[in-house]
Amino acid sequence: METFYVTTPIYYVNDVPHIGHAYATVIADAMARWNRLMGRDTMFLTGTDEHGLKIQRAAEANGLTPLEQADVTSSRFQEAWKSLNISEDRFIRTTEPEHHKVVQEFILRMKENGYIEKGTYSGHYCVGCEAYYTEDDLVEGNCPTHEKPAEWLEEDNYFFKLSEFEKPLREWIESGAIQPAGKASEALGIVEQGLDDVSISRTSIDWGVKVPWDDEHVFYVWYDALINYVTGAGYASDTEKFERLWANSHHVIGKDILRFHCVYWPAMLIAAGFEPPKQVNVTGFLLIGGKKLSKTGLTQIHPDDLIKDFGVDGYRYHFLRDVSIGADSEFSYEHMIERYNADLANTYGNLASRVVTLVGKKLGGTAPVPDPESPLAKLATEAYEKASEGWTNFTPSIALDSVWHLLRETNAYLGETEPWKLEDNSDEVGAILGSALEVLRIATILASPALVESSKQIWEAIGMPGSPDAQVMPDAMAWGQYPGGAELAQPKPVFPRLKAE
Ligand code: MSP
Repeated sequence: METFYVTTPIYYVNDVPHIGHAYATVIADAMARWNRLMGRDTMFLTGTDEHGLKIQRAAEANGLTPLEQADVTSSRFQEAWKSLNISEDRFIRTTEPEHHKVVQEFILRMKENGYIEKGTYSGHYCVGCEAYYTEDDLVEGNCPTHEKPAEWLEEDNYFFKLSEFEKPLREWIESGAIQPAGKASEALGIVEQGLDDVSISRTSIDWGVKVPWDDEHVFYVWYDALINYVTGAGYASDTEKFERLWANSHHVIGKDILRFHCVYWPAMLIAAGFEPPKQVNVTGFLLIGGKKLSKTGLTQIHPDDLIKDFGVDGYRYHFLRDVSIGADSEFSYEHMIERYNADLANTYGNLASRVVTLVGKKLGGTAPVPDPESPLAKLATEAYEKASEGWTNFTPSIALDSVWHLLRETNAYLGETEPWKLEDNSDEVGAILGSALEVLRIATILASPALVESSKQIWEAIGMPGSPDAQVMPDAMAWGQYPGGAELAQPKPVFPRLKAE
């Protein structure tokens, strides 16, 4: 069976979850759900990144031990993902003993292959990024991301010989592993500037994974963090499963961590004797007032604040449909309302309630079967093909728009054929409404990676047995499978219209 392995970044536990973190998580979740529908053996990993100076300092500031700090915040992420219907197969925490073991084994393999050596390191360190910067990277002495002064640090380190990987990295990038293309060019640019060896261990802190051959050192948090993707795929517990999943690994990341995922990580994998990731999907930032969400700017919206107004599916749909991946996008509450009303209330919800009402009025409530020759059949096939392409190319907005195109066309088809004017219980009315119900069956399956709960409500409202997310593609897409015969009752509106106050 084909596999699909998808991961989110693992989130630092110094910060509470906000809609910026939820952004990549919802995308990865929808990709996992789509691939499950496609019948692939799918594994979806998310989790928390719990080591490093940033966490140690946050714990100190809160009067907690680092592990207490991690316990509290990690469970906040788990709760937030639950309220967003995130379907992870595993939630990894980097403080797990299994992960420590995998990190040590992984880096030992890199060392045995001759890619780790000892040296001294000094540089400008930003605790916010957990990264060293060169003089040139700084903006008036400040970290370019956090706009705060970087600290001068000097220490004995183990180094990873990244400089030896320019050629394989170039080949990997040129093979099309990074999406979208603009981000691949950015990664190529970094490699072409020339790569220095990088320091991977620290002696100045002890909150981390110990270097197995020298316990004065802990691994620098980023190297331990990246290896979570290998731990999460079951490297320590099930080699055979790990190999199957790793051959189809897909990371979803934000643009600020491109260097780690598109340069350091593939090189580490090659150094340890593994394949580099199959695909790295890079998103832009979600902005408020032109800036990344921030604690100081009081712009850290928690997903629950929006779920209470839009419902979980209104939330998921907006972030999947409205964001063009790779580019930054400005969050707008007003736009979110417009999108909800236009697509969910007026298009999808309206089509479902309109068709069910007409079945009641014109056919005594008994669902008809679709017309094998309906003009909607071709549109449904096209919607499936485009959706499939959209998910494969990591463009959820295109995937969903293709489904909404089908729904809009079906609403228009009802306007043109005017079944309400035709004779009650006639074959003609049955053919039109049966075909509209068949569109709803198909579109509901296609929408289910985004609309986890409401797709089930609409599925039930059109009298389908089982659940849309239990269908198997592509078989479920063949036209004409809507069975008819069910007694349909007018459902409560699934997407009540929202007002802009
Ligand atoms: N712990 C590291 C990732 C390690 S992955 C092996 C980290 N954590 S983070 O919590 O700071 O950020 C995690 C992800 O959230 C990053 O991909 C980052 O881009 C994303 N986002 C945080 N705020 C964001 C927005 N406002 N918009 C979109 N994504 C942003 O980095």
